[in-house]
Amino acid sequence: MKSRFRIAPSLLSADFARLGDEVRDVVAAGADLVHFDVMDNHYVPNLTVGPLVCEAIRPHAGVPIDVHLMVEPVDRIVPDFAKAGATYVSFHPEASAHVDRTIALIRDCGCRPGLVLNPATPLAVLDWTLDKLDLVLLMSVNPGFGGQAFIPHTLDKLRLVRRMIDGAQARHGREILLEVDGGVKVDNIAQIAAAGADTFVAGSAIFGTRDYAATIARMRAELARVRPGAEPGG
Ligand code: DX5
Ligand code: ZN
Repeated sequence: MKSRFRIAPSLLSADFARLGDEVRDVVAAGADLVHFDVMDNHYVPNLTVGPLVCEAIRPHAGVPIDVHLMVEPVDRIVPDFAKAGATYVSFHPEASAHVDRTIALIRDCGCRPGLVLNPATPLAVLDWTLDKLDLVLLMSVNPGFGGQAFIPHTLDKLRLVRRMIDGAQARHGREILLEVDGGVKVDNIAQIAAAGADTFVAGSAIFGTRDYAATIARMRAELARVRPGAEPGG
């Protein structure tokens, strides 16, 4: 049976000089998605990669590419990522003047839209958007850098969003992923899953180790202990 949990290694911590190999290796090691962080040195204080690099890694991926846009404005660049082979395209509502329009644009381009909530972003932004989304991404660090520590209040937020997503899925039957990004490690992934996440971005925790397959296997072993709706040990 396919696991209900998905692991999305973040390329931010990969060796950019050998990016194609890194993508192939991490997919062979069991990645379900490839998480692709796009930073513009404007919305966030760091600068990474764009559609050209997404297109270049696409043939090496073989799994969906999960594009996380940390750019402002958002709309101009969305069709470029669709052409570059993105499957999911998610964005920060603070970076778009018209959130509903951006969601529709991502869908019209043939991609699956996601909204990203920063640690201090209230859940109200989901009130009139959730039914149109395929992904909600909760940031468990402030966006911009890999290797930061998981912010614990994300667990409470996850529990609340889990309930909202379960309600939305009951209404329309479409799957909405609940993804967490920042500070996810082998030793906290079970707790994060128990709070309601089903999709886990991990950059330094995977690319900072020598054996990606062993690290992903350890994450899956932790996840296997989690029963739906149960906190670990409960
Ligand atoms: C941060 C990025 C993350 C980052 C996570 O703004 O969105 O995807 O790569 O890195 P780790 O897993 O090292 O916290
Ligand atoms: Zn990210």
